[in-house]
Amino acid sequence: MNRDPDRLAPRQREAALRELAAQLNPRATEGPREPTTGWDDVCRLAAEHRLLPAVWSALAARGVRPLPRALRAISGDSSPLAVLEDAHAENALRSADLRAQGEELLAALSDAGIAAMPIKGLHLLLAGWLPDPAARTMVDIDVLVHPAAIPDACRVAHACGYRPLAVVCREEGADHEVAPLVLPGRSGSLELHRSTLMSRHAAVLPDADLWAHASAAELNGRAQALPNPTHAFALLIAHAQLQDDGYRLLHLPLRALYDFALLNAQGRDGAVDWGEVRERFARVGKLRCLSGFVAAVEDLFGMSAPLQLRGGRSWSRATRWAVRHPTAGLAYREAALLPRALSAARMARLYDAHGRGQRTVARLRHASRGGARRLAGWNGAQGSESQRTRTSRILTVTPTESTLGAVVTGADLGRLDDRTWRQIEAAFHEFALLVFPGQCLSNDEQVAFGRRFGEIEQSIELPSKGIIEVAARAGDGSWITNPSDSVIRALTGAQEWHTDSSCRPVSSKASLLSADVVPRRGGETEFADLRAAYDALSPEEKARFDSLTATHIYGYWLTKLDSAAHGSPEVSAQVRAEHDLVKLHPVTKRRALFIDRHVAAIRGMDDESAQALASGLLTFACRPPRVLCHRWRVGDIAVWDNRCVLHRARGWDWREARVMRHTRIAGDPVTEAAVAELSRPTPVT
Ligand code: OGA
Ligand code: MN
Repeated sequence: MNRDPDRLAPRQREAALRELAAQLNPRATEGPREPTTGWDDVCRLAAEHRLLPAVWSALAARGVRPLPRALRAISGDSSPLAVLEDAHAENALRSADLRAQGEELLAALSDAGIAAMPIKGLHLLLAGWLPDPAARTMVDIDVLVHPAAIPDACRVAHACGYRPLAVVCREEGADHEVAPLVLPGRSGSLELHRSTLMSRHAAVLPDADLWAHASAAELNGRAQALPNPTHAFALLIAHAQLQDDGYRLLHLPLRALYDFALLNAQGRDGAVDWGEVRERFARVGKLRCLSGFVAAVEDLFGMSAPLQLRGGRSWSRATRWAVRHPTAGLAYREAALLPRALSAARMARLYDAHGRGQRTVARLRHASRGGARRLAGWNGAQGSESQRTRTSRILTVTPTESTLGAVVTGADLGRLDDRTWRQIEAAFHEFALLVFPGQCLSNDEQVAFGRRFGEIEQSIELPSKGIIEVAARAGDGSWITNPSDSVIRALTGAQEWHTDSSCRPVSSKASLLSADVVPRRGGETEFADLRAAYDALSPEEKARFDSLTATHIYGYWLTKLDSAAHGSPEVSAQVRAEHDLVKLHPVTKRRALFIDRHVAAIRGMDDESAQALASGLLTFACRPPRVLCHRWRVGDIAVWDNRCVLHRARGWDWREARVMRHTRIAGDPVTEAAVAELSRPTPVT
């Protein structure tokens, strides 16, 4: 998904890095100038390290002014300066929103009598240490709470509207945070920390020290504890070098190096006890991480480091090698991460593999799916960015820990260009389910995005023009709570594992679902990977199922829910279709089971054995690591591949509103056609 990272010659890569550092340099005195390497490579590197807004800020500090609107229209908005300015403007909004969230949460925690301390970016923002708050990109806000107070802090966050983010892609061993929380419709996420560092690095700065020597500040009229300057600098370096094994894995922590240079230029380190910082790293035998970091700041930003921190002759030669040779650097990272990526504990968690043999199979499978690459960072960048346009915003595709699904950010689906679409389509085929948080698409935009995948399914193109409202709401807008109402029955039906339109002559290709109103509890959507389920079958089972066909009957589930409905006209008059039990994906050519709650019969078997087989297969398929639960936030949109993914809604209290918008994409009349069309012309959706 990325341009070839080795496309630049090693020397050029290092030159681009030096040029980026020169543009950023907070001590630079000369006026703005064109980079010697050209803007493209500088912006590309800046995007990889989330530094686009910082570059604009540095240029603005040297007198570069925003382009007049009229000129921007002529330049087509794609000049490097326009890209930088846009990134800065976008980040200004995000950073203001995150700051407001941080202030509100800290006030609420303080009112509840819970001691809390902002750390990392939120600390820098609230302490007023950043000359331009919009220059620093923040993914989330981090707040430290005493471990014993975590449950209470979670309750306070919940009362403020925060909800757990269900799709979590977490590093192994990140035992210092609780799962991220999000405020629906707002930027970023909130991480409550029980400790500042993961336990294996905690000795660098034990939390007791942090609390005991915190700085006292005032925030909105309340007393607020902040990390003292010595601790703040120690944490900055520890997070960059130790936390994600950055030093060992030869990552270049460019944003942290820049933070250090910036804070130094601002004189924020005047009160820092560098002897203490040195002692903290020395006590865990990590002095090299410290001196290497400082040597890199000196080298890239030309600053002179405090005497106590000198000693790294230059920044590590290995890190410099990885900067020059990113592909080889990635290979090194993958190899270094292999033992962790394939650990027994991980195989047990991801694949239910407990015995030795199972573990071996799971390891082979995981390695072939690029398991170590996922840990090492998607496509070789520091984070997981790939570029959306040449130098414009970044499209981030973050695979989940499940066998299917990825979270995609950085795309504006309402204004999708062809290049981004091609990246999204490739990710769709690879991950089979994509979640795009916070898109807030209009009906027209959702349908236009749907049309990228194919024709809207005709049979459901009612007056809605491609949008079906999924909600317990009557035509007059009133809420329906009566469990025997047909709307509630249909919604209850969607709580069983199913594939959209599997009972029709042509099953759906894909489905889109977006969230307008989400209930306080429940109402998640779960997905299951039928490709991985097929892969996990034994060779004998595969051979047996390859030749079977199953009849899907709409409403068959009613007979299971309610035995009185068995054989009722309502059930027998339902739409039905017969499909192969194993489906070959027309694009990826991967095989997948094709089963769902509608399977009522299998050719050549009596109904009872067929139903037992189908329900056994469903149970087998819909289990970790093949399932993913998405907890919706307002504005999210998900799209999944109906040819290989099952889904179901999780229940919620009918008295609470839940409004989703659904768009269904028609299957290919050849590859999604039923082997036998058994349907009667009953229009059922
Ligand atoms: C659907 C469906 C799931 C949900 O509309 O087809 O399955 O979570 N919805 O609402
Ligand atoms: Mn559905």
